[in-house]
Amino acid sequence: MKQEALDRLFDSLTDREKLAEMTQLVTSLLTGREDMATTGGSLEASLLRSDLDSVGTTLNCFGAAESRRVQDEHLAANPHKIPLLFMADVIHGYRTVFPIPLAMGCSFDCEAARESAEIAARECSAAGVQLTFSPMADLVRDPRWGRVMESTGEDPWLNGKMAAAMVRGYQGGDYEKTGVIGPGHVAACIKHFAAYGASEAGRDYNTVDLSEGMLREYYLPAYLAAVRAGVCMAMTSFNTVDRVPATVNRPLLRGILREENGFDGVVITDYGALYETLAHGACADKREAAKKAIEAGVDIEMMSTCILEHGEELMREDDGIRQAVDEAVRRILALKNKLGLFENPYKDADEEREKALLLCPAHREAARRIAGESIVLLKNENHALPLREGMKIGIAGPFARSRSVLGSWALAGTDGVSLLEGLREAWPQAELRTAMDGELGSLFDGVTDVEDKIDEACAALADCDVILAAVGENQNDTGECSSKTDLRLTKNQRRMVKRLCALGRPVVLVVFSGRPLEIRGEAEQCAAVVQAWFLGTESGTALADVLTGRVNPSGRLAMSFPQTVGQIPVYYNRMNTGRPRLTNGQADRFITRFIDCPNEPLYPFGYGLSYTKFTYSGLRVERSGDGWQVCVTVRSEEGPEGTETVQLYIRDCAASRVRPLQELRGVQRVRLLPGEEREVRFTLTEDDLAFWNGEAFAAEPGGFLAMAGGSSDKLLTAPFSL
Ligand code: GLC
Repeated sequence: MKQEALDRLFDSLTDREKLAEMTQLVTSLLTGREDMATTGGSLEASLLRSDLDSVGTTLNCFGAAESRRVQDEHLAANPHKIPLLFMADVIHGYRTVFPIPLAMGCSFDCEAARESAEIAARECSAAGVQLTFSPMADLVRDPRWGRVMESTGEDPWLNGKMAAAMVRGYQGGDYEKTGVIGPGHVAACIKHFAAYGASEAGRDYNTVDLSEGMLREYYLPAYLAAVRAGVCMAMTSFNTVDRVPATVNRPLLRGILREENGFDGVVITDYGALYETLAHGACADKREAAKKAIEAGVDIEMMSTCILEHGEELMREDDGIRQAVDEAVRRILALKNKLGLFENPYKDADEEREKALLLCPAHREAARRIAGESIVLLKNENHALPLREGMKIGIAGPFARSRSVLGSWALAGTDGVSLLEGLREAWPQAELRTAMDGELGSLFDGVTDVEDKIDEACAALADCDVILAAVGENQNDTGECSSKTDLRLTKNQRRMVKRLCALGRPVVLVVFSGRPLEIRGEAEQCAAVVQAWFLGTESGTALADVLTGRVNPSGRLAMSFPQTVGQIPVYYNRMNTGRPRLTNGQADRFITRFIDCPNEPLYPFGYGLSYTKFTYSGLRVERSGDGWQVCVTVRSEEGPEGTETVQLYIRDCAASRVRPLQELRGVQRVRLLPGEEREVRFTLTEDDLAFWNGEAFAAEPGGFLAMAGGSSDKLLTAPFSL
């Protein structure tokens, strides 16, 4: 729609209609299939039918037929024929489900992140979705938080690259030029702004308290990378930032997001988050909540009605509020226009396309390939892996046959391929024997004595050449509101692994989880450890590809694994402290340490094994123009063709603010033939050395280190200076 027509439409709206445009309700409320009372305190049953007919956007409507029907009903009732905008949580795939984002982060493959988002957009847009509440770019350091599964990990640089890639995948590569979300694409939403991942103790919705430097250097960069990539929407987080809930935090929303970083898209609250500012104690009532949210720059209130109920009186009393409401509604109408909804309110919703695209072979092939890149081989003693054809293979544990391997946000997903099915497909002739293969439940969760079951399993698998212990956590115990204080496998699983290892056959621990679990004990006992995350639709086939050696594992950890929950938070980009190690020969007692646990994680950021041994040499740093060229040679020393994830880190050795020991500043995935070596070049600029000095991002002169290698704990180092 041309701007002047949009302006005329805007001018024809009443105040109440503008406020309804700023309100988002689940589709079941609009269609009357659910009434207000069932939605809990955040909604008032006082809304009129005319309000519902003017609501601007909806969430959780799935299916082309249903979305077209709801749109038809809405347009028939809406006095101005303004189309409804359909939003949903398409977090890592729609019907074809990709690895959870934390697993995707371990691929270190931004092109894979873009591709998976593009496929998700293709599928969900055919099913009527026009905007997805993704990517989630919260930096995470605490695996007690169930939502770490939705993040791409603990590094701001990698998270930013991944978020920008996903935005381009969802919105289409040409969006930044055309400003239009074309066919087969959807608008994206960066969330949760800001710093939701820093919830204290990993307890969901808990207080966040950060210094400005920590906020700006670690937690904000990934969201802002998505803004630079043109993301259409941002979602406010449930938590406070400097003791003000993000949803009514004007310095955060109008200040940092809009004025400092030029975000001109739509700001939506999280689910009921504006109403929750009363519980936070930031607002005395819903009128104050509405006022503060409008002043802070909120455009859409999701699943609460403070703005709709109190906006008219606020607009009458305060021209500033009226102006802010007008700006908000204009941004919402502009978003609908970017999606072409005034010309085609259904966008791509089409039952034929839906049937043809959802779970189609090409999408499944991409899901399998990307899942294979997301698997991380953590241990492989005496070449226990890859398995060899003809081996008698035992599989025990709740994930032997389980298809519940999609992750907890796969709202439109159907079952994934199980580990057993994947192995059967790879090696139809193989002798595969399963035991104790019931789903997670009383057999594994409770305290029921399963010794007899373990005896049976040991008897059944005692003569296998290798045993796969398929263990982990229930996918529904991950994601939102799934914080845990105990990250170990359940007692019965730990018992089972111990007894299987006592058989004297090599045991391969295959861990299905949405977070780094505390697996130190099991890892010590087993010959090999494979982190299988929740890999989505093609979980079993991708695992079989890696376990049988068809795919050489290349995944590297995007989040550190703690030795024990007591060690948390443990992350790679830590500060050195004043007492890393005493140098005056005194016993290392008065240094930063635990007396009962090492400082180092069980497995660090960037770590992962392949079936190939890669070696590094010849790191050098050369001045080049205003920046530096960093070169390192990587060689495939022994083993099959494989992909090495070459990582570049820097360290600012002394500055006005203490700097981390390492900061990731480059990744290159290099495919090498056996015996091949290659020089890998990175470019560093002064911007790469900048940090928040209390007023601005700037680099400071002095000594630096460049570090390169295949894991944050195994690097070549070379000095350079600014
Ligand atoms: C949830 C989540 C958010 C999601 C929204 C809509 O509470 O916090 O990530 O997009 O509500 O489902």
